[in-house]
Amino acid sequence: MKKIFLNLLKQPITNSYLNNINSSTLRKELFYNLSMQIDLNNYLVSIKKPVNPKRQYTNKYAHRASQSKTMNLSFEKIANKLKRKFKPKLSLEIGSNDGVFLKNFGKKEILAVEPCKNLAEITIAKGYRTYDKFWNIELAKKIIKENGKLDLVYSANTISHIPNLKEVFKAVSISLKQNGVLVFEDPYMGSILKNNSYDQFYDEHVHIFSLISISNLLEIHKLKVIDAEILSTHGGSIRFYVAKENSKYQVSKSVKKIYKSEIIKKLNKFSTYKKFSTRVKKSKIKLVKLLKNLKKNNKKIISYGATYKSATIFNYCNIDKNLIDFVIDSTKNKQWKYTPGKHILIKPPCDMVNEKIDYAFLGAWNFSKEIMAKEKKFLKNGGKFITHVPNVRILK
Ligand code: TMP
Repeated sequence: MKKIFLNLLKQPITNSYLNNINSSTLRKELFYNLSMQIDLNNYLVSIKKPVNPKRQYTNKYAHRASQSKTMNLSFEKIANKLKRKFKPKLSLEIGSNDGVFLKNFGKKEILAVEPCKNLAEITIAKGYRTYDKFWNIELAKKIIKENGKLDLVYSANTISHIPNLKEVFKAVSISLKQNGVLVFEDPYMGSILKNNSYDQFYDEHVHIFSLISISNLLEIHKLKVIDAEILSTHGGSIRFYVAKENSKYQVSKSVKKIYKSEIIKKLNKFSTYKKFSTRVKKSKIKLVKLLKNLKKNNKKIISYGATYKSATIFNYCNIDKNLIDFVIDSTKNKQWKYTPGKHILIKPPCDMVNEKIDYAFLGAWNFSKEIMAKEKKFLKNGGKFITHVPNVRILK
């Protein structure tokens, strides 16, 4: 049985930044209802009615994973760790974006799957064999026919985007060698509950994983979680190491530890999610009140990072250009466009002191350390950051 615990109202497709806000463009903007549910059979958290992936992962996909220093380092670290640990001869990445993970491998050592053709073109140009298709059983069969079975399948922030997880895991299972390993990482439900980061819920995050839910889902595919790690990336992620049930791998102690902690935190109880939903409603009231008060005092407020996460906040809290003057983002193809749903202008990063900005809402709160280090001058001149994690406040 599936039960809804949170309704985040009418939301746009987060990756659809608007080139202009004339009436014909606005008429075509696609909205859907973002309701979050939990499946009480396996405790998987999902969007009740996900958007069709063909509308999301188009040749206009804006996000570039290599934009952040933090993520570049994180991908380099995991690539080296996987090479050391599993010594893979042939690997594959599902959802290779602009090649931020691939670049740590030789061109013959790794294959890539990326359905957004504009992104696939980038890694093809760099010499990596990239299949510009959605990951499914048909593609898995084609890949192993052309290249043989795989030692390692890696995926970051992609598996949670795919509605049909049964197909995902079956396709992985048929592509892996007997002792092959799947390693994937996605936002972690435990971190969302802890940080009250409801903005991790948006169209692309069709599912939010916990160890309990993934263990349940893998059972039918004769796959098991052999290791797991809680990560700080993207505001709290979980990395799963998965192998075939009858492979050589033993289940690590950390799997048992995380599983136990999830039971203690009641990730398998509906009441936990209902309580979270009440905290989200309170967070909305507090954030809107704070921004309105600052605006009443004529403060100039921007949002730092045109993130997908902030699209959920702005649309759920009804925050538009009356409360946020503009958004800044370092990604070129987001600049001079408008945020989805609330249509706030996105500008390139600027000198925040010269621009006389008083407050900056951390749309990219998951990179707050990197941002604070970059914006020392703003802070020194009295500029302040606002966040909503784990509760709404002005950072001191
Ligand atoms: P993400 O949280 O979905 O990865 O998106 C982060 C966004 O924030 C991305 O569009 C890049 C942007 N960004 C900046 O504009 N400046 C920065 O210093 C950092 C770290 C990110």
